[in-house]
Amino acid sequence: MIYIYLAIFLVLCGIIVGQEHNLEKGKNRDSVSPIDNEIYSNLYTYAHLIDISYCISSTSQIGEPFECELSCEKRFPNVTLVYQWYFDDSVCGYIATTNSNIFDYENASNSSKKTIIVSLRGTRSIFDTFTDLKTDLTDYANVNSKLPACGDQCKVHQGFYDYFLRTLAIIQRVLLHELIDTPEEYELLIVGHSMGGAIGLFISLHFLDLGFDKMTLVTMGQPLVGNKQFVDWVDDVMGSRFKAKHNSFDRKYLRIIHKGDIVTVIPSNRNNDDNYIQFENQIYLNCSASNPVPSLEKVVDCQTASNQACIAKDFKTHDSINRNYFESHNTYFRKLGLCGMRIRPNDIEIKENFY
Ligand SMILES: *[C@@H]1O[C@H](CO)[C@@H](O)[C@H](O)[C@H]1NC(C)=O
Ligand SMILES: *[C@@H]1O[C@H](CO)[C@@H](O)[C@H](O)[C@H]1NC(C)=O
Ligand SMILES: *[C@@H]1O[C@H](CO)[C@@H](O)[C@H](O)[C@H]1NC(C)=O
Ligand SMILES: *[C@@H]1O[C@H](CO)[C@@H](O)[C@H](O)[C@H]1NC(C)=O
Repeated sequence: MIYIYLAIFLVLCGIIVGQEHNLEKGKNRDSVSPIDNEIYSNLYTYAHLIDISYCISSTSQIGEPFECELSCEKRFPNVTLVYQWYFDDSVCGYIATTNSNIFDYENASNSSKKTIIVSLRGTRSIFDTFTDLKTDLTDYANVNSKLPACGDQCKVHQGFYDYFLRTLAIIQRVLLHELIDTPEEYELLIVGHSMGGAIGLFISLHFLDLGFDKMTLVTMGQPLVGNKQFVDWVDDVMGSRFKAKHNSFDRKYLRIIHKGDIVTVIPSNRNNDDNYIQFENQIYLNCSASNPVPSLEKVVDCQTASNQACIAKDFKTHDSINRNYFESHNTYFRKLGLCGMRIRPNDIEIKENFY
């Protein structure tokens, strides 16, 4: 436990130094805009789909057609599990499909749209994993089939990229099978928490590059993944500049950040040349972790990475070191990650080995 706090402290020192550097650039547009009513409501559905991925562990799985402790069959009656995978040392998750609307709208359209859900869970020990993973930046080149090339300056987190390649090897065939077999109307919905979000981003970029552009990527508590060239390219091809709208694919990416969630600002920057950069794409939950159900006005679109009303302000001083990071990191529209734990959320053990 002491080591964990020490690790967090060191990470924070790096962040504070890094932010002072960024502030010198002086770009400081601090206005936020409200999010769309329907998007707000959708976020609860996305969080539920993410949470279900934690039902997959070395000892438990999602049942068929779609059954789990978290009311899978009740809340998502027409969803069918296609595939689930678990490996101790890898990101795991599930693929499921439905021809029904996954949102609870009375006036949901009844077209023959097929939704393909890919949900990725993080590791239960994110800080251990971060210590083990290589945070070096490695060259990134997209297939460049439908998207413009990211360019030869693009670099990404080597550890996450390796996880992505392993995950892709596991799910590519299944996912392509579902996509090729798909009607004109489809949506590829990729969701992920924590490191699952980082891997989800790479998976999204891969399939977008292959031409599957009716896509929505929603990450919650996702760490940083790449340098400026990479992040700018992602913000561009995923449409971060557009306002998020239900049933529109202009904005394909929602990066949801909880106030005080330290995972969303690491790895921290160590030098000026090859820094990990924050995305412009930020939907910020402006409330404490003790409130798992933020109201509409607490969920804001930050529009710029440097926005001082959002995550950029959260770790500016050493005072912030006393916050409860684990809780912030695991509270996104619900308490995430408790499926299969058989421990009540308030038990102290959870705070120690569960982040
Ligand atoms: C599930 O599918 C059945 C049969 O197609 C349909 O009647 C029902 O309304 C669907 N339920 C939901 C929640 O979409
Ligand atoms: C559903 O109804 C609400 C409220 O009447 C409206 O704002 C929304 O645009 C409708 N959504 C769709 C998908 O038609
Ligand atoms: C469902 O489909 C029917 C037949 O195409 C149409 O008349 C009806 O308006 C649709 N309902 C909604 C809510 O889109
Ligand atoms: C966040 O909430 C506080 C009050 O709790 C408010 O003063 C502040 O303006 C809000 N920030 C944003 C970005 O909405």
